[in-house]
Formats: sequence, structure tokens, C-alpha cells
Amino acid sequence: MTTPLLDIRNATRRFGGLLAVDDFSGVVQRGERVGLIGPNGAGKTTVFNLITGFFPLTSGNILFDDTDISQMKSFQVARLGIARTFQNLRVMPNLTVFDNVSIGALGAIGHSPAKALFNHRKYAEDISRRTWETLERAGLQDEAGELAANLSYGKRKYLEIARALALSPRLLILDEPAAGLNDTETAQLSDFVRKLSNEGLTLLLVEHDMAFVMNLCERVMVMASGRKIADGTPQQVSSDPVVLEAYLGSEEEAA
Ligand SMILES: Nc1ncnc2c1ncn2[C@@H]1O[C@H](COP(=O)(O)OP(=O)(O)O)[C@@H](O)[C@H]1O
Ligand SMILES: [Mg+2]
Repeated sequence: MTTPLLDIRNATRRFGGLLAVDDFSGVVQRGERVGLIGPNGAGKTTVFNLITGFFPLTSGNILFDDTDISQMKSFQVARLGIARTFQNLRVMPNLTVFDNVSIGALGAIGHSPAKALFNHRKYAEDISRRTWETLERAGLQDEAGELAANLSYGKRKYLEIARALALSPRLLILDEPAAGLNDTETAQLSDFVRKLSNEGLTLLLVEHDMAFVMNLCERVMVMASGRKIADGTPQQVSSDPVVLEAYLGSEEEAA
């Protein structure tokens, strides 16, 4: 058996008295599409922040491809091959689409975004090629020169994903990619994400749109109050009484 690409072992994160993530363990296998679901405040985004080095763990370990990344900074984790998008879009509105994606491409060759902006010239050619490839992959080549602020919300979501893809990640982590999209846009996004998966990318995503998760993901982990309460196929978790109870206890999520 090969080791999992991502191996989260007893991850715990406290914020003062709050146990936001409580002894969470779970794996993502190479090439898998895994969903992480749960009511608001369950700790999903915090798990992502722990994996990607945005917050340190209070205790526990996270291994990526057999390397312990628990103590790494976010740019180091990114360089190793984990890219993410954010629940609240973090594209830079006053930069062009091209420049937003090239920041991701710069990250891939080992610079934090802040440093990268000031070392642009040295890497310009490599960055430029990588950026164009990524823009084409995400269907944004025609908008390359637009300011990100002028893109539609739907296109900005693709820009956010493109910026992550420019890192050439092995693991792509998406936090609520379908939020705010209409049904058509959601279906297109699902096709796009599936295509990335078919090209070999491993996916871990949080999403409230259950149809999106259940159709796209091969396995689903469920969190409630910081803990993992279920882990199985979409069918298994959607008929699990413990999962149903967790959602019924949180009216807005059940709706
Ligand atoms: N930076 C932070 N400081 C303090 N509390 C936080 C912070 N981030 C998240 N939390 C708290 O941790 C819990 C889990 O939050 P989060 O991971 O964002 O949940 P989810 O993404 O599942 O909705 C919530 O109670 C939230 O208020
Ligand atoms: Mg969240």
C-alpha cells in the first residue's frame, strides 16, 4: 500500500477556550476527490488553515507525501505542492488577471508573494509561460489584461482557482468554491474541477452545496463541533444517522 498524499493525525486547534478542531484525523489518497462537510462553525476552514500553515496546530501532526508539514509556514507548504482557495475571495482587485495568476506562479518557485513581487524580473520568462498556461487551463486567457475588480463574480472564482493552479500543486484545497454561483455556473465549475481531477490533481474541498459534493467527491468527511463524525462514500455519510442529527441541530445548514 502506498502512503496517503495527505495524512492528518490527531490535529487539534484551540482558540482560547474554544476547541475549533478537536483531535481530527483523516487521509486523502493520491488522485482522490474528498469533500469536507459540516454545519457552520464545525471547524472545516480551520482544518484547511492548519494544513496550509496559516495557523499552527495546538497538537497533532500533518504529513504531506510523508513529509511532516506541521511546523511549516504557508509559503513552504505551497512550495511543496499544496495550493488553496479561500472562502472569501482573495484575488487582488487592482491587479490584472495575468498579474494575479503570476503571483501564484512565483510562489511555485519558492518565494513568498510579498518577496516575489520584488523579484519579478529574474523569473519573468518562466513565470510568463506558466501564467499563460494556467490562464488557458482556467479559460481566462481572454481576460488576461482586465483588472480583477472588473471580472464577474463567477470569473473571479476561476481566477482564484487559477492562482492556486499556477503553483502546479499536487493537492488542491477549495473552500466553498460554489458559494454564490447559480446552477449553471455551479455545474460548469463541477465539470472544471472534475477535469482537473482527471488530469491527476488530488482534491480536498469544503462545500455547502450538497449536490455538488455528493456528485463530485468519491469520499466525504463530516465534521461537527470540531470533531470528525463520519468518513465514507457520499452514500454512506448521507444515510448516517449521526450526520443527519448534526445537520438537523443546525437549522440554517439543514435548509
Ligand atoms: N482566527 C480565529 N480566531 C478565533 N476563533 C476562530 C478563528 N477561526 C475560526 N474560529 C472559530 O473556530 C470555529 C470553527 O470555525 P471555522 O473553521 O471557520 O468553521 P467552518 O469553516 O466549518 O464554518 C468557529 O467557532 C470559529 O468562530
Ligand atoms: Mg468555513
